[in-house]
Amino acid sequence: MSKHAYVTLMTGGDAYLPGVEALGQSLVATGTKIPRVVMVTPDVSAVARAVLKGQGWIIRSVEPIPAPADELLFKRFALSYVKLRVFQLLEYEKVVFLDADAIVIQNVDELFERPFFAAAPDFFMPDRFNSGVMVLDPDEAVFGALLASLGTLPSYDGGDQGVLNAHWPGWWTMPPEHRLPAAYNFHHFIYEFMQVHEGLKRAFLHEIKVVHFTVQKPWQSFTLTGGSKVWWENFYLAHPDKKSKFREELHRMQDGLFDRFVGLIE
Ligand code: GLC
Ligand code: MN
Repeated sequence: MSKHAYVTLMTGGDAYLPGVEALGQSLVATGTKIPRVVMVTPDVSAVARAVLKGQGWIIRSVEPIPAPADELLFKRFALSYVKLRVFQLLEYEKVVFLDADAIVIQNVDELFERPFFAAAPDFFMPDRFNSGVMVLDPDEAVFGALLASLGTLPSYDGGDQGVLNAHWPGWWTMPPEHRLPAAYNFHHFIYEFMQVHEGLKRAFLHEIKVVHFTVQKPWQSFTLTGGSKVWWENFYLAHPDKKSKFREELHRMQDGLFDRFVGLIE
């Protein structure tokens, strides 16, 4: 059995199914041979589990972790504590955790050479790490410590990310191998901006490895920053049947609006 795994999480019903499907296809497209595990809570339907299994995901059932009474940045963060269960996947020596709203656009297998613990900066507060992409070694003692800290250590965002940053408060002063380049967890707002702006595109676009759709989910709503083409391309790999002229036209209009806005910037 492989000692390595890519892991994601699906919780809160089936709302993130398109996300996991697109993430899975994006990993397959990079040619990786490393297994993909999706942690699912009891509220994820049997149909969704079967769909993901059919797409090569290993299904791992996990029990939810109730949210402590911290103030939430976004309501949905209350569900995110179960992500901490990734530290309990003891059958793997090293895990690369990827949020279900992320897309891999280049092979990232080299992440498995990183030491425990490694993560990339958060976009809003770059001196803290974003918990959407993490390299970690599952460890029951670390899980126990994280669980014990819930309710005592504050979570600044009311989610798993706040708890994890409280556990590794000095992350941004750790040696460089623990600090992943921002290209491994790149905010889609900035990614879309780079696609359109010629100078930024030339300078940086080739570096980007993981695009993270935090805040706005392309499959749930209109995105302010263009049509999220890279996400839809990967989703259509899983669902060519859902590709329609109507959607293409909608995305073209979204892109057009955003392009015009960026075009105003000298
Ligand atoms: C942010 C992170 C996400 C995390 C959530 C809750 O949205 O991107 O990975 O689960 O905060 O802490
Ligand atoms: Mn996310």
